[in-house]
Formats: sequence, C-alpha cells, structure tokens
Amino acid sequence: MEMRTKYKTLALDSAYEILEQSIMYHDGKPIGTVAALNSPQLSAANYTECFVRDFIPSALVFLADQRSDIVKNFLETVLTLKTSRRLVAGHEIQPGVMPASFRVVADENGKEQVQADFGERAIGRVAPVDSMMWWIILLNIYVQSTGDRDLAMRKDFQDAMAQILYLCLKDSFEVSPALLVPDACTMIDRRMGIYGHPIEIQSLFYGVLRIIHSLYKAESEEDKSLLNTAIVREKALLNYVRIFYWLDLDRLNEIHRYTTEEFGIDSINVLNIYPESIPNWVADWLPDEAGYLVGNVGASRMDFRYFALGNFLSIMFELTSDIQAERIMKLYELRWNNLIGAMPVKICYPAMEGLEWQVRTGSDPKNVPWSYQNGGNWPALLWPFVAAALKTGRGDLAERAVNTAVTRLVDNDWPEYYDGRAGKLIGRRSNFKQVWTATSLILSHKLLENPGLLKFLP
Ligand code: GLC
Repeated sequence: MEMRTKYKTLALDSAYEILEQSIMYHDGKPIGTVAALNSPQLSAANYTECFVRDFIPSALVFLADQRSDIVKNFLETVLTLKTSRRLVAGHEIQPGVMPASFRVVADENGKEQVQADFGERAIGRVAPVDSMMWWIILLNIYVQSTGDRDLAMRKDFQDAMAQILYLCLKDSFEVSPALLVPDACTMIDRRMGIYGHPIEIQSLFYGVLRIIHSLYKAESEEDKSLLNTAIVREKALLNYVRIFYWLDLDRLNEIHRYTTEEFGIDSINVLNIYPESIPNWVADWLPDEAGYLVGNVGASRMDFRYFALGNFLSIMFELTSDIQAERIMKLYELRWNNLIGAMPVKICYPAMEGLEWQVRTGSDPKNVPWSYQNGGNWPALLWPFVAAALKTGRGDLAERAVNTAVTRLVDNDWPEYYDGRAGKLIGRRSNFKQVWTATSLILSHKLLENPGLLKFLP
C-alpha cells in the first residue's frame, strides 16, 4: 500500500513536470499546452501544436489549481482564430468553426503570430467538429469554477456562441435530431468509418445544448428563435439517443427479429436496420446485465462497435438515463480485460480487421487492428472514465483503473497510446511525454480525491 502511494506521488510529480514544460506562450502570455514533448516524428508532425481537445484536461487541472488565467487566455485565443465567412474554391466556409490546433510562429518581421489549423495542414484534411463544442463546454466550466460570467457575456463570446449554434442547428440534409458529420472530425481524426452520426459528436452536441441557455443571452428576436430551436433539439436528441443508440440484450433481441422494409409513419424499425447486419461477436460478448450506446446510427446502419469516449461523455452530461449509465459501467466490470486490460482505456472495441479494415480505413497502416485508433488503448481516456464511473457511483472501478495506469505510465515515459488486444505494448508509433496522458492522470487523481469537482461539468 505504502509502495503504491510512493509511486503515485512519483508519477504525479513527473506528470506535473510535463505539464509545466508543455505550456505554450504568445507575447509572454501562457495560451495553451503542446500535445507532446517527445515524438519520434516531431519535425514532421504537429504534436508541437496546442490541440483544442488535448487542452481540456490541462485546462481542468489548471482550474483546479487556481491557474485560471491560462484557461482564459486559451478561450480568448481560440476565439480570435475561429473562421469568418469565406469562399474557398467555390464553396462557402461557415463562420464559427474552431481550429483543431494552433501554434505560435514568427512572421517576416520576427513578430509572433498564432496560426490555426482547420484541417488544411492536418492529415486527411478534415475540419474538426468537436473543437467548437469543447470550447463552449470549457467556457461553461471556466465560468462555473471562477464565477467570471463577464467573459461569457462579452460580445465577441456571444457572437461566437450564436455562430456555433447556427452552424449546428441550421437546416441541413438531415432528418433526425442527431448531427451529421464527416469521418475523422473528432478525437478519432483518421478514417475509421465513423462518418454520419458518431456517438462522440452527439454527446458533445448534447453537452452544448444542455448549457447554452445559461451562457447565451439571446437578445434579438432572431437569437431567441435560435435558442428556442436549441431547447427543442436538446429534448429530441436525448430521446433519440436513449432509444436508437442504446443496445442491451432486450434491444438486441428486438433488432434480431426486426421486420424490415416497413413503409409509413407508424413503422417500428424506422431506420430499416437489417438483422443480418448484426455482427457475430455482439450476442456472445454482450453480458445480460450490461449495455452501451452503439457507435453510430443511420439509414440501414447500426455500427455496433463500442466507442469509449462517446459513452463516457453521455454519462457525464446525463444523455444516458441512470439505468443506462449503470449498465455501461457494468459492461466495464464484466468485460474489464477487453475494455481496460493492461492500460485504461481501449478507444473502441472490437478492432476492424481484414477486408473491413481495408475498406473502412483505406488500409491505414497506423490504424492496423488493435493499434492506435483501431482498438488501441489511450491513457488520455482515463479521466473521462473516472468521471463517468464516479458519477455512476462506481468509484471502485475508477480506482482500479487509476491503479492499473499509474506505475506503467511513469515507467514507460507517458506514451500516447498502447497496442494489442490487452494494451500491453507501447504503441508502435507512439509519442512519449504525451501531455494529455500526463494531465489525464493528474485529473483522475484529483477527481478521486475530490469528486465534488464533477459539479463543474455540464
Ligand atoms: C492524434 C489524436 C487526436 C489528438 C492528436 C494530438 O491525432 O487522434 O485526437 O488530438 O493526436 O494529440
């Protein structure tokens, strides 16, 4: 026991050292944290940039440590980087989109400038959708924990919120309340067959809808109507996800015996899911007492893969019902070796192999089965796991996961990800001193010590 405490202190000290060294400055002001301090491909890759999603655990650690100035600077910096309306090669880029990452560069006169990346430089050239959602969610956490409401009330902040709302709520080709997005626009930023309505985006979107009325003033008639749409959408999305994304044995039985090709408004199998599309592994793997939100839902499409982050965020933001949250945690308890193994937490389960891997990833060698985003284990997912477990009253699972991670992370020099079915191998192309690996451990520790911190989440 004493040994474990000693290790924990050692690990936390080392994690804090990484966090300190990762701070990025602009004109002498701290504005963010870089993604990694040591990457095998650092010269080519963008790990020296500050990623919006990677900064979230850094921000939560800073806020808990009363260092809110960095978080405020970050929120302001990202705001100045968001897109304004512009025409590119015959199509209009909507205002409001926020960058995946940014860096500080010197211009011709040696003056420092912050340069954003909206996917133009990123591998695969996909614009992130999660950044703008994380930005609003972080703004809300900042306001809650510092009491500085004035920041959110500022005109530039209000305008940004209106633009983001407009972007997410305006008419599109979509008929369901779920948000339609391209592949690779989330934490999983390479092709992984998650285009459509991935659960990670639905839960972040719900998180935004849930808090927007307390942040957004909606002064004009037009703004009020936007806010009303948001309120209606919040309820519709909640019902939709709880029904159509939910999978347990009862639901699987229902889908297994579905009538298909039903026409008309009172059909039961409204998305026309073909029972033949249920993969063989599902029925054997899913325990009687457990359940989860599936990865994606669309026309004749149910992606049965389990994606960890979307499920954790759904629990944290109460998009799942209490019973659903308990059952997701039960899945961890009963399938611990598959979903946690030697390193918390597996990003998705199971991995795609063979033809499916070829077709859905475009034969991506970084995403081979049980590696990186295709079934690798990501320590950055530890803190949302801990938060979800604590929220569900499963502090035992949270503690077990932290204990599994703590010694290996420091011994292995804070890898970005792990490979293999059980996550025993350090990721083949993994960075070291990955900042959100370190901050995730610090934050998990803080949450275990003081679950009261959860109250700042949406
Ligand atoms: C990888 C991850 C992405 C992360 C980035 C920086 O591209 O998939 O989620 O933001 O690395 O760490």
